[in-house]
Amino acid sequence: MNETKPQSGHLVLTIGAGPAGIYGVRKLAEAGHEVVIINRDIKPGGLVEYGIYFNKHKLKEGVRKQFRTILADPRVRYLGHIKIGAEADLALDELRDILKPSAVVVAVGAQGTKALGIPGDTATGVYHAKDLVYHFNGLPEFSRRDFSIGNRVAIIGVGNVMVDIAHWLVHEKKTKEVIAVARRGPAQRAYTDVEIQAVAANFDTAALQAELERVRPKLEAVGEDLEASYKALTKHVNTKAKEGESPTRMLFRFLSAPTEVVVNEGGGLHALRVENTELVKRSESLSAKGTGTFHDLECDTVVFAIGDKVEESFGLPCTGTEFVKNPNPDPDHPGDELYQAFDPQTGKVIDGLFLIGWSRQASDGVVGRAKLDGERGMAVVNRYLERVAPPAESSAEGLDEKIAALRQTLQSRGVQCVDYADVQKLENVEREESQKRGVEFFKYFTDEEMLSAIG
Ligand SMILES: Cc1cc2nc3c(=O)[nH]c(=O)nc-3n(C[C@H](O)[C@H](O)[C@H](O)COP(=O)(O)OP(=O)(O)OC[C@H]3O[C@@H](n4cnc5c(N)ncnc54)[C@H](O)[C@@H]3O)c2cc1C
Ligand SMILES: NC(=O)c1ccc[n+]([C@@H]2O[C@H](COP(=O)([O-])OP(=O)(O)OC[C@H]3O[C@@H](n4cnc5c(N)ncnc54)[C@H](OP(=O)(O)O)[C@@H]3O)[C@@H](O)[C@H]2O)c1
Repeated sequence: MNETKPQSGHLVLTIGAGPAGIYGVRKLAEAGHEVVIINRDIKPGGLVEYGIYFNKHKLKEGVRKQFRTILADPRVRYLGHIKIGAEADLALDELRDILKPSAVVVAVGAQGTKALGIPGDTATGVYHAKDLVYHFNGLPEFSRRDFSIGNRVAIIGVGNVMVDIAHWLVHEKKTKEVIAVARRGPAQRAYTDVEIQAVAANFDTAALQAELERVRPKLEAVGEDLEASYKALTKHVNTKAKEGESPTRMLFRFLSAPTEVVVNEGGGLHALRVENTELVKRSESLSAKGTGTFHDLECDTVVFAIGDKVEESFGLPCTGTEFVKNPNPDPDHPGDELYQAFDPQTGKVIDGLFLIGWSRQASDGVVGRAKLDGERGMAVVNRYLERVAPPAESSAEGLDEKIAALRQTLQSRGVQCVDYADVQKLENVEREESQKRGVEFFKYFTDEEMLSAIG
């Protein structure tokens, strides 16, 4: 830690140890505050641990190293395996009552499911991308769940999460066909050139050309250059994936908005019904507008990769995909309001409660962006704490007792929480295990195995 200020007397509770929370708490510790960071998972890291594609070892380990330095700081107390929420291990108010922090920062990411609510979307064989991602990255609740995959998978959405799902289908499941379904055109794809290389060699280029011809009139109507689109889409088709070859055909369907998951009489998933769309200019961007004509895309598995939303049961007011933020600009520090939680019923800011990372803006950007958002949000928290008198009893003095009380409450509910020393122990056991097995990286996929490794 650099440039750490003397103790402020304030305790800040941060909930969620993903990149936003962890990078953020460094700013709190540097400002002299004591920090307790509570996390749902045994391991810290959030989507770095359980979202980023599992074979990106270098990237993951690089970020983990930075997390380790921050979490080993004596002013930061990590407590994992505790889910906060109205229907979870502990409600937010209960936690506040026990720890009595000067401020609370919510950094729990976007754990809710963004569903379109179309008919058939709860049928067997319909999945939400986050669940699948958690499954193949070994997050305990999902790691052992059955996610049967058929021969023809339609993935709705064309962002980087779609690419991660396709990556898994192409190289791990060797699925026969994967169809990425976009409600807009090729130029509005949200995935990046770097990421698509994992599956580009599997593009069926003849089918892609035919698909672009199908939508040519509608794309040319808004001035799009099809030849340029084809060139951009196929830029990496000669890039071999590091996993080698796979027989999967990777297809695209553009200008198609899902309207129904078609299930046959026996309950089997039969098709994804889409409404053909056209592009219309809305302010600065092009939106998809339904044309009233439909098409059934034959498939036996559907994956929604359309972004996430926050979890409503967490216990904070929500609107759309997000927790409600203060709509009234702060005259002294414009922009601070974006990090302040707001109660629309009282019409007031929820005093001392802040939002950062994907909890502030769901599905927004990469790790670097979550880091920046965490740091910006904590600057707002630090400014708030400058205006608030610390409690009479110094935050550091009573903290051991408060944590003991918290552990006792959790124990009485059968919740076995872990601290950072436990995480370090687990990481050592996993490191030894990877050496024994001769693999680059090894991790346990269940809570039982992790807790047993901790001892
Ligand atoms: C599939 C996928 C792949 C990605 N791949 C990349 C990539 O390759 N490179 C890149 O730079 N970015 C990638 N990203 C983006 C990156 O992961 C996010 O920008 C970042 O993780 C968001 O950070 P966060 O801290 O806001 O949320 P999260 O990372 O989601 O962290 C939230 C934390 O809160 C905890 N939590 C949740 N609910 C509760 C609760 N109720 N109580 C207590 N704790 C709770 C969780 O355990 C978790 O540790 C990817 C994202 C996804 C979805
Ligand atoms: N390797 C990496 O670096 C990596 C990996 C994964 C994720 N991430 C990051 O994580 C963030 C989230 O990624 P994401 O892929 O979940 O989100 P995203 O980039 O926002 O893409 C979401 C896709 O879903 C579509 N969509 C949204 N709502 C829809 C609806 N109602 N009907 C049909 N389609 C809909 C979007 O289409 P429209 O554009 O038409 O709305 C878009 O194609 C991104 O910032 C991403 O870059 C990074």
